[in-house]
Amino acid sequence: MTQLANPNTRAVVLAAGHGKRMKSNYPKVLHKIAGRAIIARITDALDKLELEHVHVVVGHGAKEVEEFLVGHPPKTSWSVHLQEPQLGTGHALMQVVPALTSFVGVLLVTVADTPLIQPQTLKLLLNTHVKQQAALSLLTTIVPDAKNYGRIIRNQQGLVVQIVEDKDADSQQKEVKEINPAIYCLEWPQVLSGLQSLTNNNKGQEYYLTDLIEWAVASNLCVATAVADNWREVAGVNSRSELAEACRLLNDRVLTSLATESGVTVVDPQSTWIAPEVSVGSDTIILPGCYLTGDIKIGRSCVIGPHTVMEGPLRVGDYSKVVLSLITGSEVGAYCRVGPFAHLREGVLIRDDVRVGNFVEVKKSMVGPNTNISHLSYVGNATIGAKVNIGAGTITANYDHITGLKAETVIGDEAATGSNSVLVAPVVVGAGSVVAAGTVVTRDVPDGALAVGRAHLEVKACWADRKRRQPKS
Ligand code: UD1
Ligand code: CA
Repeated sequence: MTQLANPNTRAVVLAAGHGKRMKSNYPKVLHKIAGRAIIARITDALDKLELEHVHVVVGHGAKEVEEFLVGHPPKTSWSVHLQEPQLGTGHALMQVVPALTSFVGVLLVTVADTPLIQPQTLKLLLNTHVKQQAALSLLTTIVPDAKNYGRIIRNQQGLVVQIVEDKDADSQQKEVKEINPAIYCLEWPQVLSGLQSLTNNNKGQEYYLTDLIEWAVASNLCVATAVADNWREVAGVNSRSELAEACRLLNDRVLTSLATESGVTVVDPQSTWIAPEVSVGSDTIILPGCYLTGDIKIGRSCVIGPHTVMEGPLRVGDYSKVVLSLITGSEVGAYCRVGPFAHLREGVLIRDDVRVGNFVEVKKSMVGPNTNISHLSYVGNATIGAKVNIGAGTITANYDHITGLKAETVIGDEAATGSNSVLVAPVVVGAGSVVAAGTVVTRDVPDGALAVGRAHLEVKACWADRKRRQPKS
């Protein structure tokens, strides 16, 4: 087994609260920030620390949160612990105590609604805790607007003596701008007796974890603080407007890093939304109105947008252009041109130098290099070779609505389909063959052949002129 960076260190994520201020039917921690659930953003940060275990306390919406974690498991070994009813953050941590009977080490306890926290800030707290041999360490930060945060109360020597919740604070305490992000390191089992001594004697009638500080001070234990210099990282999400604010703060962070570290031009940061999982090569230009989430890798010198939505996992090769389009779960090669109004809809693999043009939908298909699908086509469950020309309005009829099954279309290299041809799958259109405009292809076309199937065309000379000359009745 490989050695963990932080053995004997476990995290506790408090995720049982109701999140009433969200006014939502869903648990707060499952709301998304830049395409990823709040709780997953926390476990992502914890995974970077290489801890021994993550204990997640669930309560409100416990089933949904647990199901989400099963579907999106942290890399660190993890378990859930039910808090029912939810009687406060101190009570939430108590629910993990039975699982800690043989544990001796550091507990990194965090609320689950600060999704912008960075691993390096958590490391700063851990290092402070270890270096100062503290019994309890807490992160603090200075905010421009202390809102509903717990205030850090220091004595004349500058030592933390208490955290006062906003609703319990007097007017002088409310002036304090140093707040409690609610991320702590606890020396275990040293703090257990403090945890057991918490009471709910406060306005919220809750067992506040924050009261542990007063207990530690009264017990003459070492309380250490690490001050995070960027308050934006610990912005808590309690309401829809704080959710929007957190999205904006994360977006600003991502766009700044793309500009300064990756050499990417974002023409309009106000209308461009890019998740932290997205990587973009240098000299790529992102035009206004783009929304990119998930595992996305865009190459160098591309032009993306305006008004393009991408949902990863997906790749776009170097020098490609994507305009006014929607792409999900696909791969686009280099030197491609996609859009306007193209929809690449899951499982699409497009090789280099391909044109997928106006009003074209492609699904679960492979498109060979130098192929054009320029206008008004639907390509589904197809394998298309190199240098193929798919004419305007070509449709792969891949779906049998009686059986509900999809069938495959194969189009060989250098074949061409004329406008408005329908390829009724399963069918093979051989290499170098031509399908005439308006043809419905219901059986395989050999290599190099012509497939033509149209209603007989009649042209009646002078018919229209005669009709015009007829007297109107
Ligand atoms: C808490 C802190 C406050 C801090 C703020 C930072 C306390 C008493 N207050 O306040 O000092 O400034 O976070 O964002 O700790 N939870 C449970 N079980 C419960 C109650 C809450 O698991 O019974 C979880 C929630 O799911 C949430 C977290 O604990 O993830 C914090 O709860 P919340 O109600 O948001 O506390 P705040 O009022 O924000
Ligand atoms: Ca909160």
